[in-house]
Amino acid sequence: MSDYLDQIDQHNLPKHVAIIMDGNGRWAKQNGRPRVFGHRAGVKSVRTVTEAASRLGIEHLTLYAFSTENWNRPISEVNALMHLLVETVKGEIKALNKNGVRLNAIGDISKLPAKTYKALSEGIEDTKDNKAITLNLALNYSAKWELTEATKAIADKVRKGILEPENITEDHIAEHLATYNIPDPELLIRTSGEHRVSNFLLWQIAYAEFYFTDVFWPDFGAEEFHKAIYQYQQRERRFGKISEQIS
Ligand code: FPP
Repeated sequence: MSDYLDQIDQHNLPKHVAIIMDGNGRWAKQNGRPRVFGHRAGVKSVRTVTEAASRLGIEHLTLYAFSTENWNRPISEVNALMHLLVETVKGEIKALNKNGVRLNAIGDISKLPAKTYKALSEGIEDTKDNKAITLNLALNYSAKWELTEATKAIADKVRKGILEPENITEDHIAEHLATYNIPDPELLIRTSGEHRVSNFLLWQIAYAEFYFTDVFWPDFGAEEFHKAIYQYQQRERRFGKISEQIS
């Protein structure tokens, strides 16, 4: 068992961890292989980290799997990723059910290729009663898209006289986001040495702790995940207060 696992405080776990999985392409290049080889290796990390999070008792894991900007990648890579999603979701249903993992998607999945949309919708339906952990896949997701959609929906309520502008609260906005009913992540992890948020969960990470590591996503395993949780637990979360008010 890992050293970090032994040091994790079970009473101070984040309820929700969000991850920007990055570095698949560079990992593949380092190994002299095509980029898709890196994405395949990345799927293994998805499995390992989901298991590790579930074992710890974390309730929500949100993974940035495909952003609205990722459509700009070479078409061959986009197609390979969409195919990999179908293969992975179909291939993992049994294991997800065995481990109590509920699959969920955030993002406009109706715009994904029909086969990907179908596999995902079936995966979500087939795992909907699982209770151990929810695995939220951010697919065709971006925070600016999400906030724009929320604004449109709220504006529509105002136009219809359902809501007065002066009565709009933070809760109204949160209710119109793709993460409705999901607690905000306390911890955001980004792999591969990049220190950017890349249009991910901009509203929800208002008070998240950030954890950056140089490790490429395919090399990010249970030990790395435990380390991130341990590091998170060393932080003092003040929410605008001063240290003395916390302890
Ligand atoms: C980032 O690495 C990775 C992605 C944009 C895609 C992530 C996809 C997977 C891990 C596979 C499918 C996922 C699931 C949930 C089944 P990059 O390609 O940006 O790497 P680079 O920055 O080194 O080029």
